[in-house]
Amino acid sequence: MTTAAQLENLHHKTQDFISSPRKMLVNGQWTTSASGKTFDTLDPSTGGVIVQVAEGDKEDIDRAVSAARAAFEDGPWPSMNPTARERCMHKLADLMEENADILAELEALDNGKNVAIARAVDIQVAIDYIRYMAGWPTKIMGNILPLSVPYAPDAKFLGYTLKEPVGVVGQIIPWNFPTLMCAWKLGVALASGCTTVLKPAEETPLTALYIGELVCQAGFPDGVVNIIPGYGHTAGAALTTHKQVDKIAFTGSTEVGKIIVKAAADTMKNVSMELGGKSPAIILPDADLDIAIPGAASAIFFNQGQVCCAGSRLFVPDSLYDQVIEGLAEAANAMKIGPGLNPDNMVNPLVSQIQYDRVMGYIDSGRAEGADIVAGGKRRGDKGYFIEPTILGNTNRDMKVVREEIFGPVVCVQRYNDVDDIAKLANDTIYGLGASIWTKDVSNIINIVPKIRAGTVWVNCHNILDVAMPFGGYKQSGFGKDMGKEALDSYLETKSVCIMA
Ligand code: NAI
Ligand code: MG
Repeated sequence: MTTAAQLENLHHKTQDFISSPRKMLVNGQWTTSASGKTFDTLDPSTGGVIVQVAEGDKEDIDRAVSAARAAFEDGPWPSMNPTARERCMHKLADLMEENADILAELEALDNGKNVAIARAVDIQVAIDYIRYMAGWPTKIMGNILPLSVPYAPDAKFLGYTLKEPVGVVGQIIPWNFPTLMCAWKLGVALASGCTTVLKPAEETPLTALYIGELVCQAGFPDGVVNIIPGYGHTAGAALTTHKQVDKIAFTGSTEVGKIIVKAAADTMKNVSMELGGKSPAIILPDADLDIAIPGAASAIFFNQGQVCCAGSRLFVPDSLYDQVIEGLAEAANAMKIGPGLNPDNMVNPLVSQIQYDRVMGYIDSGRAEGADIVAGGKRRGDKGYFIEPTILGNTNRDMKVVREEIFGPVVCVQRYNDVDDIAKLANDTIYGLGASIWTKDVSNIINIVPKIRAGTVWVNCHNILDVAMPFGGYKQSGFGKDMGKEALDSYLETKSVCIMA
């Protein structure tokens, strides 16, 4: 169990929420699973059980999709005035803000992350994003088309386009930013007039379920938002093959992304995929190291490296290698390690035993392939899933740790000589999610940014995400964008209307 001392300092609403088994949200009602099954959600800082959660399966997905379908076909949501839809979304954002501390505590408990960072980053950006998306319903519009129709010269035509919601969306999210991913998915679905069945990750269902409570209070019609916790191969798979689901939006591993694209092909669903990464952070020879070294450290160690766009391949010029390695090791060794409910702890547990084992396996593989262990490399403590911030030095392109996504607090440092080669080195990966370059020279920025094959390129920063800035991958990091106006594109159909006078 989570320790009593940890629990007694929590807000009473947080304590209430985890004091009885959590149900699933179907058609505006909280219900147990059809099978009656539940699963445990765990506290990664102890490995203890926080609370049981209803375990959704195919039958629950069927019920939820039917509710979402009915809400879409016959319910008031898609036909509601845009201003009324906006009001519901603003109400949800206000409720999230009122309950932000509770969401942060639940996130820290369920995922393990630092509670203060969760409040300031995960929860705040989630609230901001719902507000950002709440501004769109009144601004989604088509065009008037200047038609010619050469084979009907005597007729007059009026042509225009309508933007319409794609329909019922299945949304499957991961465990690394549970509230934020939930907001990214719900925000755009709601703004576009879709209805949704959302499946949170089995490791971290609690904040999505809490947001479900707030959805009920915000006055959305029944069936617009359904939340089904459960496992990927059961509940998730049922969603991706369901005939009544029009679109699947997925964030998670590239491996599962490929399975989902194939599963969704049978019914030709609209699909958007935000997948894994192996993002380069590139220190150029002229970089300001006072900024670049702490920047490179935070690019990988933020959220224990469980970030799809983490700067996991660090490129350092030969001439600066020793200085950068020394500074980076100092930063890594200075980070306080411990449970996320104590905000002083900057390195928190990985999300699960499975993730801990994967990351430790990669560290061993790096060691075996000849990387230097410059810092970290070990477990911390004897319970929970803590791993020290780890720096693997003198790595090269052929090592497994450089080629594969580790998704933990492990950076692979590679030396380079020639700036002219750097874009090629950076692009030497199947992924293309993010990249950062660290330089004071604007001509470096102008030359290198267009050569990098990635959905986001940061200059003198890394991992900066904003509600207005589209985020998504190139290559095997996926397709379709979250955030920004672009996020709406894949949730909207374009209907052409042609009227002959
Ligand atoms: P995952 O991709 O298996 O899980 C993400 C979501 O997909 C969860 O909700 C899961 O239940 C669901 N899912 C799994 N199999 C499914 C299926 N067959 N059909 C439908 N839904 C399914 O990720 P996992 O196993 O938790 O982590 C493994 C690795 O994936 C990590 O080590 C990391 O490298 C990568 N990952 C990347 C993320 C990102 O944001 N890019 C997020 C999470 C994991
Ligand atoms: Mg958990």
